[in-house]
Amino acid sequence: MKILVTGGTGYIGSHTCVELIGSGHEVVILDNLYNSSENVIDRIETITGVRPAFYRTDILDKEGLEKVFQENDFEAVIHFAGYKAVGESVAIPLTYYENNISGSINLYQMMKKYGVRNLVFSSSATVYGDDFEVPFKEEYGLGTTTNPYGTSKKMNEMIITDMDNADPERSSVLLRYFNPIGAHSSGLIGEIPNGIPNNLLPYVAQVASGQREYLRVFGNDYDTPDGTGVRDYVHVVDLARAHVKAIEYAAEHTGTEVINIGTGKGYSVMQILKAYEKACGKELPYKVVDRRPGDIAVCYADTKKAEELLGFKAEYDIDRMCEDSYRFYANLENIDK
Ligand code: WQD
Repeated sequence: MKILVTGGTGYIGSHTCVELIGSGHEVVILDNLYNSSENVIDRIETITGVRPAFYRTDILDKEGLEKVFQENDFEAVIHFAGYKAVGESVAIPLTYYENNISGSINLYQMMKKYGVRNLVFSSSATVYGDDFEVPFKEEYGLGTTTNPYGTSKKMNEMIITDMDNADPERSSVLLRYFNPIGAHSSGLIGEIPNGIPNNLLPYVAQVASGQREYLRVFGNDYDTPDGTGVRDYVHVVDLARAHVKAIEYAAEHTGTEVINIGTGKGYSVMQILKAYEKACGKELPYKVVDRRPGDIAVCYADTKKAEELLGFKAEYDIDRMCEDSYRFYANLENIDK
């Protein structure tokens, strides 16, 4: 299939493009490069031997967006483009809603105008909020989100579901990611953090590289085995492979399917730190500090639906995630960001 990947030079988008190309699909990337660089296209070409077409376009630019659809006969869209920093979204909510909601609506309108009916949307476990018992199940529905980033994901899920209810020909898969980490085994693509990383893995990586003095462990008084937060970390390559299965599923069905993508296992902050120490071969300093506002204690996926509907099961374990992550960050100074 010919597939438009919005946000295709980003962390998850670039890994998904590699897997789509590897599965024989034709990929066209649209990205405004707000949080990524065009050099990622070169690295996708190096990995796959194929250079995807690229449009430097913003989903808020209706004319630019229309040009992409006029010049390509897409069979499907995978929509990653969006701002995704939880803390930043609290500080500048209007920017987040304009980009993540208005921008997405522009895309959905263009899909309707050009008869593109298959969509995979990049959603997040954050839409469950703290309302439910773990493991989180898709049938729980949408929880109480605690920041504009999470609310924008929830609103997109509602918009897409309503569009599908209004047009029985449409087909959408809403993938709720848990905690994507790791990098392609080539060390050429991975998560390049902008500024001080909010997320655990890139921060640990910067402690390992000496860029940060120590890891701040946000609380060790949670009701978990070692008191630190537990999350369902999933290798970004596993997550990318799930997107290939999801877009192929969408092309064969109609309606809306919500599907969790995780491993179904939870690991604590300290377990991740130890796994990273094993990967980098050195002890990493940390200090326990106050809990981070808005954090929940435990979050991990029920993965049955992904297995039943998509035939997807995550392959890589925590050690592989940390090994691949470490290789990418160790290589970072050698690649032209
Ligand atoms: C993981 C654990 C922290 C940093 C977020 C978004 C979610 C999704 C994934 C986009 C928690 C602890 C972290 C640090 C720490 N993003 N931690 N010190 O918060 O589970 O999810 O990223 O879709 O929407 O909410 O991920 O990596 O920030 O935190 O102790 O410096 O690590 O308390 O327990 P989170 P995270």
